[in-house]
Amino acid sequence: MSTELCEMSLKQTQELLRLTDEILQDICCRRFTSESLYVEALRKVLGGEGRRGPVSIFLAFLDDIYQQYRGRVFHLKEELMEQSDEIIIEPLSSYAAQLARMDLVVSNWSDTCKAVEEYQGNFPPAVREFLAGPVKNFVCFRISGERPGFITAFNYPGEATDYDADVLRSLSVVIGSLMTLSNEVEQTEKAFIYTIEALARACEAAEEGTGQHILRVNKYAGTLAANMGLSPDLVETIAYSAQMHDVGKIRVQVGILLKPGPLDDEETGIMRMHPIYGLEILGDSPRLKVARDIAISHHENWDGSGYPYGLKGEGIPLAGRIVKLADVYDALRSKRSYKLPMTHEEALMILRNGDHRIDPALHFDPAVLATFLKIEHIFANIYTSLA
Ligand SMILES: [Fe+2]
Ligand SMILES: [Fe+2]
Repeated sequence: MSTELCEMSLKQTQELLRLTDEILQDICCRRFTSESLYVEALRKVLGGEGRRGPVSIFLAFLDDIYQQYRGRVFHLKEELMEQSDEIIIEPLSSYAAQLARMDLVVSNWSDTCKAVEEYQGNFPPAVREFLAGPVKNFVCFRISGERPGFITAFNYPGEATDYDADVLRSLSVVIGSLMTLSNEVEQTEKAFIYTIEALARACEAAEEGTGQHILRVNKYAGTLAANMGLSPDLVETIAYSAQMHDVGKIRVQVGILLKPGPLDDEETGIMRMHPIYGLEILGDSPRLKVARDIAISHHENWDGSGYPYGLKGEGIPLAGRIVKLADVYDALRSKRSYKLPMTHEEALMILRNGDHRIDPALHFDPAVLATFLKIEHIFANIYTSLA
């Protein structure tokens, strides 16, 4: 292998390593999709603009249900990644059999055929069609890991060489490990969301008929957050964290929670501990920071007259200010042991003009309230659809 080729090989491998590193550094669980990962990795290896590399790459993974390989062919067109429709390789086809047998193949048409046309018979028509030209050479690797597959790179300039195989081997290792990692992250994320939901359901069971309350509060809070222009990530976090706002009520005696009538001073004192209990229950995981903010601050008032700490204005976490309004709206609409449910118009009237308990100008963040008043019809729809 010439020095020049070695250097190029090293450079491309380094680029792949850097990419892996970057991805690992800014993994944000919920936005971590395998596709976005490998498309970037493919971009580093495909040829063009003075780089040596294949014209196209066919990447396919085994579908465990159907035992077929499913994948797409990728190539760069003016720096944009183009991809074919999904290509399915049937398990009994000669191509699949060939793939199952090999770990690595470096092949040039002149090695096995007298004419380049003859060589084409080795490849599935759907792949050839997207390549828009005859296959002259290829390198193929098997991808191992949780989702096995293979990667085939077609049409290197001149001939496919062992150097090209080295780069493709790095690519297949990177893709294999990123896919495994992405599966793991996905599983962990699912377990995380499931645990949160279980926790929210557990405390909800202690309260009267609020089965849908937490689901609705999630939706209202997400809608408010989105309409206030918060980032999609934060909107999503606020929406799933909102359901834990009353998690601390699990430590309040059912007799107090379900008391049909006003609470005495002592009972009120106990009830008002639920934000602090919530904070304790939610622990110190960084992933639950927003949930803790919400649990501790959803009964604080903008003017400082709320509980448990009497926080004021922007001293109250934004997520808490958002969930507060969502929670109050839903409480107004719902039947409780001490009150009848209200219509949307009645609840809206109170959030606009106040009543003996609620003073909108003093209790709510003006920006949250203004957003609510703009989109109040959506609240009505959420309530109806999750009643
Ligand atoms: Fe609460
Ligand atoms: Fe609530």
